[in-house]
Amino acid sequence: MNAELAQNPEAKGDKHEAFPVVSVNSRIAGSGMHVPERVIPNSHFASYLETSDEWIRDRTGISERRWVEGTVGASELAEPAARRAIARAGLKPEQIDGIVFATVTPDYVFPSSACFLQQRLGISGGLAFDVNAVCSGFVYALVTADALIAKGLCRRVLVVGADIYSKIINHNDRRTCVLFGDGAGAVVLVAAGGDEATGSAVTGGGGMIRGIYASELGADGSGTDILCTPMGTAAPATPDSLLTDAHYLRMEGREVFKLAVRRLAEINQHVIEANGFSLEQVDYFVSHQANRRILQAMGKNLGIPDEKVLMNVERYGNTSAASIPILLAEAEEQGTLTKGSLVALSAFGGGVTWGAVLLRW
Ligand SMILES: CC(C)(COP(=O)(O)OP(=O)(O)OC[C@H]1O[C@@H](n2cnc3c(N)ncnc32)[C@H](O)[C@@H]1OP(=O)(O)O)[C@@H](O)C(=O)NCCC(=O)NCCS
Repeated sequence: MNAELAQNPEAKGDKHEAFPVVSVNSRIAGSGMHVPERVIPNSHFASYLETSDEWIRDRTGISERRWVEGTVGASELAEPAARRAIARAGLKPEQIDGIVFATVTPDYVFPSSACFLQQRLGISGGLAFDVNAVCSGFVYALVTADALIAKGLCRRVLVVGADIYSKIINHNDRRTCVLFGDGAGAVVLVAAGGDEATGSAVTGGGGMIRGIYASELGADGSGTDILCTPMGTAAPATPDSLLTDAHYLRMEGREVFKLAVRRLAEINQHVIEANGFSLEQVDYFVSHQANRRILQAMGKNLGIPDEKVLMNVERYGNTSAASIPILLAEAEEQGTLTKGSLVALSAFGGGVTWGAVLLRW
């Protein structure tokens, strides 16, 4: 019996004998989330735009979102989430040897928000960098951290998703400004075998080993136009661009909607079935929270029960890279996710980008 099976006595039970053998490099040891205090209800928009609480709830499932007040950087928003995730993992900040920070609203152009967060946590020495994959950012960051652990470059990686879209949306565009919220979430990914392990472990027949079982990432750069925030070296801010609001987020909502539903269903099915599992074996689907209707349509396409598709978009709106780790942290806190839950993460976002991860909590 290897060290992993010894730590998972339930793996010997008959119930899970149908699970395939999987190879695991890392597992999530703890999660945390943080959102700003300030609640923005739908009535805020109805007070100055041609929209209504009813339209927003009906078309998106969103009732309220949180926005920062004044100037707050992504690393500041992320710090409480990171500290909670580290504490839940039973670690101290100085034991973290890598920070992978998913965001498209970083503190500065450079240095990275990962380095700012490192400074805030009072640690140094491990690696730290940002990942830009828009709403798929957290999944990209998690898969990157898993690969860093597999390569032996790190043993305890803080994976963060934090975004502050209230600073990049056009507050006068009803098609987009109602959709987004600010927030941060984090997990700590540790080498699967624990501190003494080499960082790689293969499970036996029980299949109850906790950790990342499979993942996939993808992108299609032909879709850069359908969702973008054109501010950067190819579109520097000018007096004219500022006057015409040209540098704010733009989206072809209907197109994004259709692509998101199709891709989320495809990647879930693929990451689960190509690795020998069935959709029925998955306990929870934790997908990027953009719109309730997208999540419902994804669930319908996959033929899975509604209660398996976790949601909190109603309270936070679309928090981009933060949405999945916020949902994970809430589900862990509420006891929905328990040791051994089989979870499928999936995201779709600007780029266009997508990604999925199958893991055992
Ligand atoms: C944005 C979104 C909610 C719009 O919903 P929709 O049902 O597709 O609505 P449409 O874009 O077809 O617009 C229908 C009408 O509602 C209007 N409308 C758009 N936003 C509105 C709002 N906040 N209030 C009232 N009316 C609104 C549109 O102007 C349009 O009016 P028109 O027919 O007179 O032109 C939806 O497309 C969506 O969620 N897309 C994906 C967004 C997303 O998830 N992005 C991030 C992905 S990572």
